[in-house]
Amino acid sequence: TEQTYIMIKPDGVQRGLVGQIIQRFEQKGFFLRGMKMMQVEKSHAEKHYADLSSKPFFGDLVDYMCSGPVVCMVWEGKEVVKTGRKIIGATNPLASEPGTIRGDFCIELGRNVIHGSDAVESAQHEIGLWFPEGVTNYEHTAKAWIYE
Ligand code: GTP
Ligand code: MG
Repeated sequence: TEQTYIMIKPDGVQRGLVGQIIQRFEQKGFFLRGMKMMQVEKSHAEKHYADLSSKPFFGDLVDYMCSGPVVCMVWEGKEVVKTGRKIIGATNPLASEPGTIRGDFCIELGRNVIHGSDAVESAQHEIGLWFPEGVTNYEHTAKAWIYE
């Protein structure tokens, strides 16, 4: 089944949004396979956002990601990459629809609370980067009540 990498950024942790963010993925029916909290090293943040290294905001982005602990998660389910991005909302929080995480909880690009993988291939790459130890593998017993 498809998996995605979701990360609550330091502002989301500091603002006490961890529970509400997890709830939105849980209530949809997605399945939590991995979760941990960590302080991110600069070199690791640079790797995660390597595609953006030429952008003018790259330095600020890396500083932001290292400004406090993050919560790292792997969520699983049908089309979870695309649907996870919908739950999160547009990159710029002022353009994110109300009802999305960014639409409901934040204002600025550089304080947009949460990360979500943008494609199945980047999800696989990011899960490997953030969970080199692997994730849990247990039976999702509610499956038959979520999928037909
Ligand atoms: P992520 O889920 O964090 O990867 O966001 P995204 O996929 O919606 O956007 P993208 O990958 O293009 O950018 C990564 C992150 O860089 C964004 O979530 C923002 O925090 C930050 N960012 C993107 N564009 C800008 C910008 O123009 N200015 C600033 N300050 N930050 C930006
Ligand atoms: Mg991105």
